[in-house]
Amino acid sequence: MAEKTLGGVIPTATTSTVIPRQDIVRLRDTLLDWALDMMSADRAALIHIEGSALKVVASRNLSDESARDLTDLSTSVVRQVLGTGVPLLTHDAQADPRFGQAASVILHQITSIICVPMFHEQTVIGVIYLDSRRNRSRFTDENIEFVSTFAKVAALASDYAKSYDEVNQQLQQLRQMNWAREKIVGQSPKMQEVFNLMRRVMNSDISVLLEGESGTGKELVAQALHYDGPRRDRPFVTQFCGNLAESLLESELFGHKKGSFTGAISDKKGLFEIADGGSFFLDEIADISPTIQTKLLRVLQDGEIRRVGDTDSHRVNVRIISATNKSLKGEVEAGNFREDLYYRLNVISIHLPALRERIGDIPLLVNHFLRELAHKTKTGQKRLSPRAMQALVNYQWPGNVRELQNTIERSHLLSEGDIIEVHDLFIPEAERLALKSKTLKDYERDVVLRVLKECGGNKTMTAETLDVSLRWLHYKLNEWKQPGD
Ligand SMILES: Nc1ncnc2c1ncn2[C@@H]1O[C@H](COP(=O)(O)OP(=O)(O)OP(=O)(O)O)[C@@H](O)[C@H]1O
Ligand SMILES: [Mg+2]
Repeated sequence: MAEKTLGGVIPTATTSTVIPRQDIVRLRDTLLDWALDMMSADRAALIHIEGSALKVVASRNLSDESARDLTDLSTSVVRQVLGTGVPLLTHDAQADPRFGQAASVILHQITSIICVPMFHEQTVIGVIYLDSRRNRSRFTDENIEFVSTFAKVAALASDYAKSYDEVNQQLQQLRQMNWAREKIVGQSPKMQEVFNLMRRVMNSDISVLLEGESGTGKELVAQALHYDGPRRDRPFVTQFCGNLAESLLESELFGHKKGSFTGAISDKKGLFEIADGGSFFLDEIADISPTIQTKLLRVLQDGEIRRVGDTDSHRVNVRIISATNKSLKGEVEAGNFREDLYYRLNVISIHLPALRERIGDIPLLVNHFLRELAHKTKTGQKRLSPRAMQALVNYQWPGNVRELQNTIERSHLLSEGDIIEVHDLFIPEAERLALKSKTLKDYERDVVLRVLKECGGNKTMTAETLDVSLRWLHYKLNEWKQPGD
């Protein structure tokens, strides 16, 4: 069993910051309460400039409406402080010729207003506004200093909240990036088809069957479907189902009750329960026994599992991704696999092409692995000689990408210089395969024509796959034209 938590690579918002956002907001509110109390003010507001608008981010005794559009506040006062960056105090607003006519001053019978700017570095980012009505408190010049100190703390808190939001937004973007999918290398039409299908099923819960020879990347695709999909924060659980004793697999998948068989010394949760809310990757699904097939069908139909030896069922919500390198349909036809289960697992199937069916991707994969190796071993990136690359392109790759990856790792280790030569490859008949084309030009033509064939003669697609311009491709095809073509 392998329970992986790659999703944890990108931290969630709550674990990535020292002070949770709600605490910053609470701090701002507490500051405002203090100011209101200590100044015996009637109303208080913390106002930010956001773009070209003003926004009340915290307030006391303001109606929701005025907090939204500032109608009740003396906007002339606020704008003046924002414009000048200088604190403003009026002891007698009604008589003050600057504000006495303001509707809000008259309406709320405001006598005293104190309004202090908040700075981030040298820039005014907002104000703190306090006012008081007739017969309450008259603010004094000494109060300005107190409110200014308070404004500094509030500005820090606001700044912190803003960077918090920015960091959070970036995290969000990061999480939305298809980072698992990025690990899957391939530009060939067959891989484009795979990526298209992946995109279509990514955000749904439907069961996906991955088919393909050994080493074609089935597990990689299963991981990408989970870690780039909506369940990424929940578990991704893998179970290899091939060649396992039935009773062992059964208790792994569904769990068991204490005493249900010899050795069951305590209750055990099955992997389906562990995967609840996440995805379950059932690898080598073709090999499961009829009993397990029946139990699996029940999970898929009813969303329920029953532990071995238990009479109660548990509900689970798991997305199933299964994989096989046999033909599951063939197994159904041979009577080895339940047809109803086959249809449940195979709502969509994605076929991973063999490497020999997409030779255009070989140079890309080789460079990808060499780049990874250079990074891992902290050495310069090695290259393949054209003949070595030719040998790789001509080889049949029964072990597909896994075999290619092993070959590159081995030759990276064994080659002495920066260039990996044919004799460093240690693949069967490497020399002969390299000789299939004698010169670099032959090699070029060979690869281009084979990719063109893979792309069904589509030149645009061929140029994209090979990462060359369409002009270059036309030019080359012309050059290679046989007389009389
Ligand atoms: N398109 C690809 N791009 C990059 N790496 C790949 C790609 N396909 C496969 N690999 C790498 O090749 C190796 C084998 O891939 P994976 O384990 O996904 O194959 P598989 O189809 O599950 O094989 P098996 O049937 O033997 O279990 C892994 O190391 C994987 O990272
Ligand atoms: Mg696998």
